[in-house]
Amino acid sequence: MTRRLEDLASPYLRGLTPYSPGKPIEEVERELGICDSVKVASNENPLGPSPLAVTALREALAGVHRYPDGGGHTLRHALGRHWGVTPAEVLLGNGSNELLELVGRCFLLPGDEAVYAAQSFIVYDMVAQLTGATKVVVPLRNLAHDLEAMRRAVTSRTKIVFLANPNNPTGTAVPPRAIEAFLESLPTDLVAVVDEAYYEYLPLDLRPDALRLVQGGRRVLVLRTFSKIYGLAGLRIGYGIGPADLVALLNRLRAPFNTSSLAQAAATAALQDLQHVANTRALTEAGRKYLTEQCQALGLRVVPSEANFLLVDVGRPGAATSEALLRHGVIVRPMGGYGFSTHLRISVGTARENERCIGALRAVLGS
Ligand SMILES: Cc1ncc(COP(=O)(O)O)c(C=O)c1O
Repeated sequence: MTRRLEDLASPYLRGLTPYSPGKPIEEVERELGICDSVKVASNENPLGPSPLAVTALREALAGVHRYPDGGGHTLRHALGRHWGVTPAEVLLGNGSNELLELVGRCFLLPGDEAVYAAQSFIVYDMVAQLTGATKVVVPLRNLAHDLEAMRRAVTSRTKIVFLANPNNPTGTAVPPRAIEAFLESLPTDLVAVVDEAYYEYLPLDLRPDALRLVQGGRRVLVLRTFSKIYGLAGLRIGYGIGPADLVALLNRLRAPFNTSSLAQAAATAALQDLQHVANTRALTEAGRKYLTEQCQALGLRVVPSEANFLLVDVGRPGAATSEALLRHGVIVRPMGGYGFSTHLRISVGTARENERCIGALRAVLGS
């Protein structure tokens, strides 16, 4: 009898639901026959990429007939200088998403445990599912990571702990000392993945120094990305910083040309553009304040956020509310998939985008 394709595939794939990204603007406009819509669904940088990155991209275009530098020499050295680590401690990824997957494939086998929060970045759960690892899912406390409970959930079978700070989709951040103490309290033989995709949005006094632990020889892999504050989401480039032996191990699994020459060139330039980062932070802070106040004026509960998005409880089904907002040309993310059935995640946009979003919310909620 012919085997079904599904039966040929890894059994762990059967329970895997594809990641559902925010709808592209073009798709929404085509489906609804509208134009001038606003996408505040994927925590992107509303200011766009750094002008320095755009210039570097133009220059790099003429060389795209060549394979990229598979070792990402220039960018890894630039990141090493930027963060005071050696290039051997830096690993480039096709977005930090790829590095999450690599670390899972590198360490997790059926029977191994991966510990992460119940309402955190969905890819941790996908990675555990994909590898057949046991998912040890720890509920949030007051919508933030419950580090004590996570510590208690660690056993001798735990191979990876995933921790997003600030957390997606809540936007909450844990005090730096608490994170550092948590990492120090973990058994030294597992790998702690500290996912800092929104790190640059944190005020200085809320930034944990996970790199210090890396330098102290701890098995900590710090993940950062160029997709958020650096405005390069479309190019797919992120990086990890970890002990050289961990980076070397992950490099064995990495596809030889996992990051493109364009992405490497743009990221190297974007890293130098401190002004663009500062402008983005200022815009984000002002926009977050505006959106929070306006949502609260509409009677909605807003989770205090340290990132470039807000989790908002609209007090009615989030999926239907998000559909209604689409008809007003505003794309947000319903959060039912994360167990927040009455919440929307709204990324901070430009002042105009934020106003459009509040106007549409007001219309949809009938206030
Ligand atoms: C917490 C967190 N980690 C990782 C990522 C992946 O980002 P990228 O693959 O674009 O670097 C995201 C993207 O939304 C995120 O929110």
